[in-house]
Amino acid sequence: MANEIHTIGVLTSGGDAPGMNAAIRAVVRQAIAKGKKVKGIQRGYAGLLQEEIIDMEKRDVSDIIQRGGTVLQTARCKEFTTAEGQKKGAEICKKHGIDGIIVIGGDGSFRGAQKLAGLGINTIGVPGTIDLDISCTDYTIGFDTAVNTAMEAIDKVRDTSTSHERCSIIEVMGRGAGYIALWCGISNGAEDVLLPERYDYDEQRLVNNIIENRKRGKKHHIIINAEGIGHSTSMAKRIEAATGVETRATILGHMQRGGSPTAKDRMMASLMGAYAVDLLCEGKSNRVVASKQGGLVDFDIDEALAMTKTVDDYEYEICQTLSK
Ligand code: ADP
Ligand code: F6P
Repeated sequence: MANEIHTIGVLTSGGDAPGMNAAIRAVVRQAIAKGKKVKGIQRGYAGLLQEEIIDMEKRDVSDIIQRGGTVLQTARCKEFTTAEGQKKGAEICKKHGIDGIIVIGGDGSFRGAQKLAGLGINTIGVPGTIDLDISCTDYTIGFDTAVNTAMEAIDKVRDTSTSHERCSIIEVMGRGAGYIALWCGISNGAEDVLLPERYDYDEQRLVNNIIENRKRGKKHHIIINAEGIGHSTSMAKRIEAATGVETRATILGHMQRGGSPTAKDRMMASLMGAYAVDLLCEGKSNRVVASKQGGLVDFDIDEALAMTKTVDDYEYEICQTLSK
């Protein structure tokens, strides 16, 4: 094969996500099973530019499939968004004999991978983010664990909210996307869910809803607020003043990014990591692994980054109907 891969580099980039370790393990073991060498690049693109590169063997990924975070560490790296940084990164790959690289991260990380591909390093992206905001794929590694963590936390807030007959505004992560919020909205049976993709900033509607729910005999009012809307604390103060219902804000924050990955995240990470190695071994480059209708496929990174997706209308409608 003209551009046969001998050494595969692997890095994690952007926000960490539960299941990244399972993906690293899959890359290392599938690559070695196919006769390739593997090098782990620590701290994402920042570590690449600092040449923080280590050889990885099968035993180096023992005992990590069940662990949250990423053993390779992750980072956000401004220098790599510049043409000079990218050129330096490609040169460092060549210096270390890395002819194929697997980038586990989100859209931003894929933009970096796209640049490396343009500079002659074969690259494959694996979707790893709790936000589920990568358009080409139905699934991103970390989402299931994060949404389960948030759901369990919200159940706990609900207990105390019911006891005190309060309104609780609970803010979940997701950057500009409302997938975590929508899933919690349905799974926690929240009275209201505020999504960046849908919210009309009509606070009076929320106030009316709280008052009507009180009249219907509801003992609490749970509002899931996506971080893309934010401002939960000031919103709580305004809502309490307008409704007379005691209102508290809880921001779940980074706890949503940690913890042992669920079976779904371990499974998807293992399959996607191995699939990424297969693609490199087939001589492919500038591709993103994606889950579509239950199977794994891959897309050209340029096309993947140009795709758009949004929250499902039916799920949003059902979320509202079922909480009445
Ligand atoms: P995510 O991958 O989760 O979307 P970020 O958007 O923070 O996270 O991106 C992670 C890293 O990817 C950035 O810190 C940067 O190093 C790299 N990156 C992001 N955008 C670009 C770009 N346009 N060109 C090159 N590298 C990029
Ligand atoms: O992309 C994952 C994510 O957790 C987002 O949900 C959130 O907006 C962001 O990362 C937080 O980033 P940081 O860890 O830099 O605060």
